[in-house]
Amino acid sequence: MLKNITFTTINSETNTTVSKVILEYIDSGESKSYVFKMKSYLKNGLENIPSIIKISTKNLAKQERDNYLNYVKWSLPYNWRVELMSYSEWQDLGCLCYTFAISLGEIRPITYYIKNKNIVKINRIIETIFDPDQLRWYHNSNVQIADSIMEHYIEKWFVGENGKKRNVSNQIIEELLQAKNIRFNKNYITLNAKKIRMPENFHGRERGRFHTTILHGDMNSNNILIGENSPYPIFIDFQDTGRGHIFQDFIVFENSIRLYGDMQLDFKDLFELDLALHYYFTKEIEKSEIPNISSPFVESIIKLRESALKTFEQGKYQRYVYGLAMNCYSRLRKAKTFNENVNNQMLACLLASIYFLDEKGSDMEAEKSNKKEKIERLDKVFFSFNSVDRKFVDDIVERLKMASINVWYDQDELQGGDNIISKVGEGILQSKIFVIALNESGKGPWQEKEINDILVNAIHDNDIRMIPIIPLHSQATNIPSFLKGIKYIDFNDDFEKAFEMLKRAILRGTNR
Ligand SMILES: Nc1ncnc2c1ncn2[C@@H]1O[C@H](COP(=O)(O)OP(=O)(O)O)[C@@H](O)[C@H]1O
Ligand SMILES: [Mg+2]
Repeated sequence: MLKNITFTTINSETNTTVSKVILEYIDSGESKSYVFKMKSYLKNGLENIPSIIKISTKNLAKQERDNYLNYVKWSLPYNWRVELMSYSEWQDLGCLCYTFAISLGEIRPITYYIKNKNIVKINRIIETIFDPDQLRWYHNSNVQIADSIMEHYIEKWFVGENGKKRNVSNQIIEELLQAKNIRFNKNYITLNAKKIRMPENFHGRERGRFHTTILHGDMNSNNILIGENSPYPIFIDFQDTGRGHIFQDFIVFENSIRLYGDMQLDFKDLFELDLALHYYFTKEIEKSEIPNISSPFVESIIKLRESALKTFEQGKYQRYVYGLAMNCYSRLRKAKTFNENVNNQMLACLLASIYFLDEKGSDMEAEKSNKKEKIERLDKVFFSFNSVDRKFVDDIVERLKMASINVWYDQDELQGGDNIISKVGEGILQSKIFVIALNESGKGPWQEKEINDILVNAIHDNDIRMIPIIPLHSQATNIPSFLKGIKYIDFNDDFEKAFEMLKRAILRGTNR
């Protein structure tokens, strides 16, 4: 496998045949991979640049390579990441070769700074990574709509590699509850004289639509390295990189603070602190009313959540809390290796979160039923097109309106100051017929996002019809695979005939 890894040097004249390799094992904890630091020497005795060899099952390795090529390489600046140099396979194993992270000063995982309670450094890292103004992964322009936040998190944190739901017992949670003298039975925990649902039931509750963005996918503090004197974090480990809930990386990072920091409070205080943090974010209390505000990390957690809400216009605090609870719960169920303090922190956060959600639950249910009503689709026609075809689409839309067809058209619907993403998302939710204007130059970035939303809707709704059309002066190349097999209407042969066909196709799809 190592032979297949091609070694690169900056000077192409140099003989790059490797004559000697030294591997040094890196213990990476609960990982499913074997990671080594590799030193290699050329025939002429020169040493190659050091690299990292990461060996895992073929599927996992392939996944990580694809994630790197699809998401990391083009969306993270080079000083924020390591470089993937090569990849090879042998039998059922796959091997990735990364450059060894280099930076100013000694490089350490962020975990080191958490363990040392270096709050200044941690806050600076949070500001850099999660800065809402940075145009990287965490940005509104990457946001799309997806279905069922509950299923997303179950798949993410409760499903094993074999695709089956992880069958881990609640023993640790029950023991912890017992030790804290908290009463519980199969369905309820009695806390502060209030009955709240056992987490097992809680994660079976439906939580409606949510928003996704591109993210790291496993943003725990071991997967971010930083040089002592460097302002840039370096991301590694892209096994789970891709689309996920907008708050997921923030949540995982927050729990890294719980996992490796020691808040040095007893259970009751931890619970009250976590609950107060929630009420602070729903503006029910002032910052000064948060108990233990002076304890380390509280400032960091507040900063992190504020960045999350500032970054994503669509972000709802309840969704953050839901993800946080899911993460605590899944960690607790795997918790054999954690110490009691960490378990306390996770349990307090879990209980405070579900207590809070239970209280706010009615808001979320209301929000859900609103959404349901909206999905009662109207006989509206939504146009998705590349902006180069706007003139053509203007013309068609005008004619359709004259024929009393109800068109959702961005020109009519959008007003200055509107949030375009949520407005267009609304248009998609209201429409039943989607006319997709194909253009040989491909989909524009905006249309790409629309089509993705339309597809998500179409998967869950048999009422939806898609009508591909070829605008005037365009050609039938570049037809996306999901539209192949659907008859398209070409406006280049006979414009009037094509228009009549479009009108008929629309009327057939509506209830008229
Ligand atoms: N490119 C790299 N440069 C320096 N250290 C690395 C690099 N890649 C991985 N490591 C070290 O190896 C550990 C495990 O690697 P990682 O890719 O996170 O594997 P896993 O998927 O097993 O967590 C990391 O926590 C880090 O300490
Ligand atoms: Mg890792």
